[in-house]
Amino acid sequence: MEIFLDTANIEQIRQGAKLGVVSGVTTNPSLMAKEDTADYEAVVKEICTIIPGPVSAEVVVEGTEAMIEEARKIAAWAPNVVVKIPATAEGLEVTSALAKETIKVNFTLCFSLNQALLGALAGAAFVSPFVGRLDDAGHDGMELVEDIVDTFEYYQLPAKVIAASIRHPQHCLAAAKAGADIATVPYKVLTQMIQHPLTDVGVARFLSDWQSISKRKGK
Ligand code: E4P
Repeated sequence: MEIFLDTANIEQIRQGAKLGVVSGVTTNPSLMAKEDTADYEAVVKEICTIIPGPVSAEVVVEGTEAMIEEARKIAAWAPNVVVKIPATAEGLEVTSALAKETIKVNFTLCFSLNQALLGALAGAAFVSPFVGRLDDAGHDGMELVEDIVDTFEYYQLPAKVIAASIRHPQHCLAAAKAGADIATVPYKVLTQMIQHPLTDVGVARFLSDWQSISKRKGK
């Protein structure tokens, strides 16, 4: 399973890139609103220079024609930009029009297998089930990821499954076990994924034992 960062924060993306495990980024208008800039285009372009893999940027207009027009503009920002289109009837029409132009779409805000299936059939390169938001609403978000993975495999649909709206490391574990192609994670979750108290204890003990050997050598 690949790891994408779910943020529009340049510093977090630079830090994540240094770890060598981040192969893409997803942004959205709410993540962008947290940053101290109004220039979405500049932010996305900068992210695309830091991470060479897929960088998702969301279309934020309504109406099929307007969405297609904005998607074309976003797709021209960088070769690795992927356009996020919401899982609505309009979004479906837009996705299939963009797929014909070979513009990569991330079919986002997916909350059901039907939405994911239609997005894949329309030619989306990625579909994003929102695990955390489903959990919040009293459903089992990861069950949806499992269903989408199984269905895409059964029908040999090429769309990649991004487990999105990830809230904690346990979600990452479950997404990997479910066979998600990608988990897009907040920076905090990425840092939590590597942490283990027994590793910290082990490192501290090895260091102190090594110091006692060094002192012996000095005798
Ligand atoms: C995915 O592409 C979205 O940006 C994201 O995962 C949404 O997560 P949230 O439910 O934490 O806002």
